[in-house]
Amino acid sequence: MSDQLSEQLQQLTEELARSEDADALYEVRVRYLGKKGSITALRRQMGKLAPEDRKAFGQAFNAVKVEAERAIETRRDALVSAAREADLARHEDLSMPGAHERELGTLHPITQTRRALEDIFARMGFAVKEGPHIEDERYNFDKLNFQPGHPARDMQDTFFVRPRSDARLVLRTHTSPVQVRTMLAHEPPIRVVAPGTVFRKDDDATHSPMFHQLEGLFVDRHVTMADLKATLYRFVGEFFGEGLNVRLRPSYFPFVEPGAEVDMQCPFCREEASGASVGCGLCKGTTWIEIAGSGMVHPHVFESCGIDPERYTGWAFGLGLDRMAMLKYAVTHLRLFFDGDVRFLEQFPC
Ligand code: PHE
Repeated sequence: MSDQLSEQLQQLTEELARSEDADALYEVRVRYLGKKGSITALRRQMGKLAPEDRKAFGQAFNAVKVEAERAIETRRDALVSAAREADLARHEDLSMPGAHERELGTLHPITQTRRALEDIFARMGFAVKEGPHIEDERYNFDKLNFQPGHPARDMQDTFFVRPRSDARLVLRTHTSPVQVRTMLAHEPPIRVVAPGTVFRKDDDATHSPMFHQLEGLFVDRHVTMADLKATLYRFVGEFFGEGLNVRLRPSYFPFVEPGAEVDMQCPFCREEASGASVGCGLCKGTTWIEIAGSGMVHPHVFESCGIDPERYTGWAFGLGLDRMAMLKYAVTHLRLFFDGDVRFLEQFPC
């Protein structure tokens, strides 16, 4: 019997030497000392011994059990310190500089453009104002003199937000509702620009369902369209280069009267000597590039915002912000701005 005990102990020692981790140690322990372990099993045989031999066997059994536990613990300690040694031996020089330069992000080109425009208009005395992307339909349309059946309200053009209350909400289709919000909140004189994201259901190479505008609004006594043209001329000179012409072309928007499209002289085919543009692919040979909608604030809009149209006049414009960025950086596809491709974006350091 005690032969069997020392045999088991011998086997256990050998198995321990082959065990390389805590899981293996656990298995060995279960196999020998667990409830159904082979050393544990020997104890049950004590009943078969003659009574006078039992005491000696009991002592031998306990000694072997203690020895086995100790052997497992010793192996465990050895494994732990070996792992620790290996860890310490991994020499890493933490003071060594990294192999790659740390890459810093830059502001998105649309953000750079927005800030540049804000700066230009701020120098001309305009405050910067923002409005919500999810807008009350009355601010986006009604108070801007859009009639109930106006095509811009069509489901094809506008993202309507499922109502939770009586409020009819849309993703704003232009920054013009900020005109309304400003006039409802402030007495003239008013001079603000309102940059921001707008949404329409267009989606092709030059249209994205999400794009950006910068609204301008000037309301005071005796404001005329001449002020509008001078302001836009100043803006184009600052942003694209001095001396580029600006023209107003009759157009229609329900919230202005008269209304006009704003064109600027094409900067890409401008001849140094004469200062005239000659026509190129970007202006489609016309020498003009459309940059904004504009006009004198409609009396109905003043009335719906609590401003006396007999006393005040004003103008507004809505610039395509992305358009400005495309022209400034000569980017041909609007979508490049929104695809998030780092190879494109890293070309606009700031
Ligand atoms: N809100 C118009 C648009 O998005 C632009 C505009 C703004 C026109 C202000 C006139 C005055 O097309």
